[in-house]
Amino acid sequence: MTWTADELVAFIARVLYEVTKNGLTLDYAFQKVKQRWRRLDSFKVFYDASFDAVRHYYLLRHLASALLGSTSAKAVARTWFVYRADKLLYNRDLVERYRRRVLKRARARPEEALASLETLRGDLPRYLSVKYSYHPAIVETLLANLPPEEVERILDAGNNTWIWLRVNTLKTDVDKALKMLEREAEVEPHPRIPFALLLKKAKRPVQYLTAVRTFAAVPQDLASIYAVLSLDPAPGEKILDLAAAPGMKTSLIVQLAEGRAKVVAADFSAKRVARMKHLLKALGAGDAVEVVRADSRRLKTRRFDKALLDAPCTSSGAFTKEPAVKIYPRVEEAPRYGTLQRELLANALSLAEKVVYAVCSIMPQEGEEVVASAPAKAEKPHPDLAPAYRGGPGGRTFPHIHKSEAFYIALVQKNL
Ligand SMILES: C[S@@+](CC[C@H](N)C(=O)[O-])C[C@H]1O[C@@H](n2cnc3c(N)ncnc32)[C@H](O)[C@@H]1O
Repeated sequence: MTWTADELVAFIARVLYEVTKNGLTLDYAFQKVKQRWRRLDSFKVFYDASFDAVRHYYLLRHLASALLGSTSAKAVARTWFVYRADKLLYNRDLVERYRRRVLKRARARPEEALASLETLRGDLPRYLSVKYSYHPAIVETLLANLPPEEVERILDAGNNTWIWLRVNTLKTDVDKALKMLEREAEVEPHPRIPFALLLKKAKRPVQYLTAVRTFAAVPQDLASIYAVLSLDPAPGEKILDLAAAPGMKTSLIVQLAEGRAKVVAADFSAKRVARMKHLLKALGAGDAVEVVRADSRRLKTRRFDKALLDAPCTSSGAFTKEPAVKIYPRVEEAPRYGTLQRELLANALSLAEKVVYAVCSIMPQEGEEVVASAPAKAEKPHPDLAPAYRGGPGGRTFPHIHKSEAFYIALVQKNL
């Protein structure tokens, strides 16, 4: 081993600082800290530990206060070691020695600090926020829209990451992709979506699997797959994707239409449009898609049969993949995004008969309320989706039901 427990704790503390004080995502924070670190053979343990500490930040902060009388990033990182290191590190000796060192100066025993959580039970939002480590605004939003037992199941399930792989049938078929994957990983096909595979175990990180490197399979969350299935793309149709970059859903549209739909993919960001062109080509979808850089609020073009609006948003539904979202869900930005989403949806409805509106957000201001305000009728577009909040239009995906990110999805059609 080429690193010490002190080093690991110092690294985690810096990542926590970058996420909590500077609002960085986990990956940005990790890269920033890593750049200034001494060279190590592998940073895998450092990454996994940082991810875990950010994911459990609110709980660890509460425990750090009870245990060490401090909520500094260093105290939270030390507390991570006491409660979580044994779940990630194989070296029992190292874990025990460092744990003993920390606990020597502790004000309470680890079980006592944990038991102090129960004193919060009278304040349900606070209790759930600390127990499952979510920003209070996430808990409050969910409690305002769903029964408390279901909220607790969502928060608990949201502390898992599921990696879904979509077989890219533009390059191969499901059987061949399965054979290729089975050499390096264990996957489980979705019971009703044969091209969607849940990655259970892998010999290497997902991006290094042969099937992924050769674009026979692409990592794509099940919620995103449901958004495109909701559009039900078919050969011969004219389909517009209004917020398309980097093109993951566009490429699934092409795949489901067996490469025989006329697809236009628009996005505002020049950088992301360039990336999209590259990705669509690599996935074998390049020839079927016309890529345009445009502000889709104002895009005027011919009429389409269908449109997908995978709207820009707070990403507050991405907490299973991005643990920093649990600390900074950016809910205060929901009204600004709501305005943009309404404008985009209005234009989408002027360009296509049927519009699928999808958004990776737990905020009703970005989901139900945007769709309800459109002069159009809306419905739940796929039977697998959970109901929308409070009997509202559309449907939702959740980690505890779908093993996915939390999306809002609706099929919207102009009133006839
Ligand atoms: C959620 S992401 C889309 C992800 C994409 N659909 C995929 O599956 O790969 C939202 C996108 O909306 C784009 N966007 C933001 N404002 C826009 C606008 N006014 N017109 C067009 N695109 C916009 C952003 O550049 C971003 O790429």
